[in-house]
This record gives sequence, C-alpha cells and structure tokens, in this order.
Amino acid sequence: MTVITANTPDSSALAPSSPGREWWRSAVIYQVYPRSFADADGDGMGDLPGITHRLPALRDLGVDAVWLSPFQTSPQRDAGYDVADYRDVDRLFGTLADFDTMLTTAHELGLRVIIDIVPNHSSSDHRWFQEALAAGPGSPERARYLFRDGKGEHGELPPNNWESIFGGAAWTRVDEADGNPGQWYLHLFDKSQPDFDWTNPWVREQFRDILRFWLDRGVDGFRVDVAHGMIKEAGLPDYTPPEHAGSMGGGAGSVALEPGIEGHAGDEPPTPPYFAQDGVHEIYRDWHRVLEEYEGDRVLCGEAWVEPLEKLAHWVRPDEMQQTFNFGYLETPWEAAALRTVIDRSISVFGSVGAPSTWVLSNHDVVRHATRLALTGENLQGHGIGPKTTGLPDPVFALHRARAATALMLALPGSAYLYQGEELGLPEAIDLPDDARQDPTWFRTNGERYGRDGCRVPIPWEGTDPSYGFGPSAKSWLPQPASWATYTRSSQEGVPGSTLTMYQEALAARRAHDLAFGELDWFDLGPDTLAFRSGGVTVVANFGERLVELPAGDIVLASGELEGRSLPRDTTAWLV
Ligand code: BGC
Repeated sequence: MTVITANTPDSSALAPSSPGREWWRSAVIYQVYPRSFADADGDGMGDLPGITHRLPALRDLGVDAVWLSPFQTSPQRDAGYDVADYRDVDRLFGTLADFDTMLTTAHELGLRVIIDIVPNHSSSDHRWFQEALAAGPGSPERARYLFRDGKGEHGELPPNNWESIFGGAAWTRVDEADGNPGQWYLHLFDKSQPDFDWTNPWVREQFRDILRFWLDRGVDGFRVDVAHGMIKEAGLPDYTPPEHAGSMGGGAGSVALEPGIEGHAGDEPPTPPYFAQDGVHEIYRDWHRVLEEYEGDRVLCGEAWVEPLEKLAHWVRPDEMQQTFNFGYLETPWEAAALRTVIDRSISVFGSVGAPSTWVLSNHDVVRHATRLALTGENLQGHGIGPKTTGLPDPVFALHRARAATALMLALPGSAYLYQGEELGLPEAIDLPDDARQDPTWFRTNGERYGRDGCRVPIPWEGTDPSYGFGPSAKSWLPQPASWATYTRSSQEGVPGSTLTMYQEALAARRAHDLAFGELDWFDLGPDTLAFRSGGVTVVANFGERLVELPAGDIVLASGELEGRSLPRDTTAWLV
C-alpha cells in the first residue's frame, strides 16, 4: 500500500483515530451548501472565501466536519450537480487557491472537510460529452455515456419508458453531424445531466484520477451523489414506478425496514432497473482501495435512496463505503413507535456490517424538518412545497417539534448530519415567487412540483434587512423571507433557549458523554413516549398530549420549556 502524505500541513491539529474509533464513526457533519452559506464578494451567491470567513462559527457550534455540496465548474443548471470540470472551482465560488485556503483553515480549526463528487452524470457542457456528440454513433467517445438508438421505424421513440427523477422523459434525442435526428442519450435527472456508462473502464479510470486529485489536496472524504445509480440493468428494460414512490427511487413516506416488515406504511418497493443494481458495489470497493492509498481515515458517504435498510447496509460493508445517509430515518414521521423501530433496525442492520448508523433530518433536497415534521398533507420526497400546498403547519408549533426531533437525533449512537440553517431553526421558505424559482423540477413539471428551492435560500447571519449578513450587499440568489430577521445567528448567540444555543448544548453534551458510542437501553414511560439510557444520559421524548413525569436526574438539555419536572408534548429532555 502506498502511503501519501496529504497536502494538509495542519491536519495534525486533528486527533488521529484508532481502529474502531475512527472519526467518522462519531462525527457530526455539517452540510454547507456553498451557494447559500456566505457570500464574500456581494454578488448574491455564496462562495469559498465566504465559507472560510465563517468557519469559526461552525467550530463554535461544535461540529466535527463539514461537507460541501458541489463548487466545481458547472453551468449551474442543477445548482452545481451538473459538473463540467471535476478538477476546478466554478468562478462563481472562487478559485482552487480559495479552496486550498478554506481547507487549510478548516483543518486549523479542527474541522474535517468532505466534498461532493457527482459520478452518475456530468454536465452536458463537459468536454467529454461534447466530444461524444461530435464523434457520432459507435465511437469510443459515445461509449462514455449511455447513447442508444431509438425505437420506432425511424428511431423516433425513446429507447425505453424511463422517466427523469425531475419529471418528463429520461431520454433526449440528439442531432447528428448530418443535421438529422439521431441517437438518444439517457439522463436520469435533467437533460443537461447525461448519465455515464459505468461499465466502460475509461469512465472508471477518470474517476479514480478525480478522487486522487482532491485527496492530494487534502480532503477527508467524499459524499457520493446518487450512489445507488451508476450501474443500470443490462438491456435497460422498461419500468413503471409504483404510484406513490418518491422522486429519488425509494417509496418516500413508506419506510420498509426489512423484507416483510414495514416501518409505517407500504411494502418493500421494487428495485428500479436504474437504481441499486449489484454492480455498483464493485465500483465502491475500487474507490475504497483508492482512499487506502492515503494516510488518515478518509471517508466515502453514499447518497443512496435504497430500501430496505438491509439492502442499504451493502453500501457500507467493510470494503466499501464508510457511511451512507439513513434516509429511512429522515422519512419516518414524528411518531414514537415508528421512530423506535427505525432506530433499532438502523443500529442493528448497520452494526451487522461493522458500520456506524448515520442520522439526518434535513438537507438541500428535502423540505426542512422545521416545517416537514408538522405537515399534515401528503408530501412526496423531491416534490417540495409552496403557497398552494395543503396542510402547511403553524411555524411555531413546527419548530417546537423540530427541536424535539433534533434533540432525539443527537442522542443516538453513530454519526449525524446537520444541514446549514437548521441550527437557527430555519423553516422551509414557502412563499418564494414563481419567477424566483430555479430548481429544474419546477421547470420540468411546469410548476406542478415546487421542487427544492425552499430549503436552499441563503441563510441569515445578522442584522434586520436582507441579506441579513449573508453577504455585504442586499443580494441573494433566492429571496430571503422578511421574517428571517428573527432567525439570525447573531440574535440567537448566547441566548438561553434559542435554537442555536440548544444545538450547541446538545453537541457539547453529546461529546462530553460520548453518546456516539453509547448503547441504547430502552425503558417504558407509557404510550407516545420514547425513553432510553445511553452513555450515562437518560433521554425522554414526548410525542403525545399527556405530560410525562421525568425520571430522576439533572436536566442537561431540554428542547423546549418544561412544566416543572414534566415534559410537555413534542419535547425532548436529556438527564444525567
Ligand atoms: C443531489 C441533488 C441533485 C441530484 C442530481 C442528488 O441526489 O443531492 O441535489 O439534484 O443528485 O445530481
């Protein structure tokens, strides 16, 4: 094994891990969405210098690592998840030198850095795709992507019936060099995001190089986009998803925990021919070996919308990825029994392959949990919400519940992901004007699905007027709601009971009591409650109307106000 010393002079500030205590087994990882975190140059778009400037706030929050959504060169048709150069920084966000400064600063502050890698597809602007278009049918360049002849007498019909995750057909026909309509290419997402053909060794070699490019710069790992895609079933057979499947391929709103056992609704969904194919695992074994060429504990975290959990656990077998997002947990409603089931199953299923469970409630693709957990209408994953959505919650009630959910999540063993702004209690921005929306989902469905813009609005730092300290100007690429003055970081700093303070207290207590390595010992406090002991801490969450008498102990965390020693509805408390 070649050991390469990383280009991180200050990585020594980060404690070395020992086997079984690798940093990613316990880390709380904060997702930075670069467009919306901090804008240093005032153009209304967040950037790398902005992130560098604000990193101390994340150290003060108490997280262990940051994950950056894509900042690489891109025409931004899917907010950077359409990469046109995997080895450079988009000018919108800065330069490679800005990236290096950000990384060094993070390491000096004791924060590890994970970056996004987008291997299922590139941008159609990528040189590789442009060369494929120019080279024509049957060429090695076309073999990088999934080009096929169409069906019908003149190839006028798409090669199969697959639909794009963002709505509409998953195939687009190209014009050949002679000006006539020719082959079709597959794009599981927008038509500007052609899927690679991962059976092609050339593609595999390119991505090994891309991983090494960033590992050489010193990144601590990768969040792997669409880690359940990449390999498609041979022959690309037709497929019709079940009626209530969420966009990402899972049965959103129905967590099948193991074959035959339902989380709260629905049967195990069928496996689409474009997701969760066995062949993807060979790729991750290969990537695991690439990471092993480097010193330190580098990590791969898969974004794999796969059910049931038993199947998802294949992504984190010892020679594959280190972590995978637990979307089954994210999709579980705020219900005691359903949560207990998904928590137990996650710990046991991930544990059976030697991996930590991960926990997540929000990210840039889902309705923020400070709104989502209190929605009363149906809301399929990826469809988003907007002014015409029915069943919208009261924001105060919803935040109260979200804080209880966070306090429960941060007590669980394993690693947790936070999404920027949740520590401020930010709700989903619901009233975005139609003409401000940018998610391709909105355009591809002619406004039928709102998409994900509502969770991507630039976050408020300080002040009473837009951009609330996001940048030096009033500009922000999505408009910030007027009500966001009350959510700024500066207005919550040091304020007892603020959401920011609760997150800081929870993260500090989680660390002090080593909860990431705790073992849950459940006990019964009656219906509509969850209660367990872990790492010397007693955790109680109340889901029902009835006040719950807290057991003996000093209260170290409460997600909301208590009534004496009684825990009200939608509140979580920790005691020692
Ligand atoms: C990312 C999305 C993106 C899609 C296509 C997802 O899983 O998280 O934001 O639109 O992949 O790259």
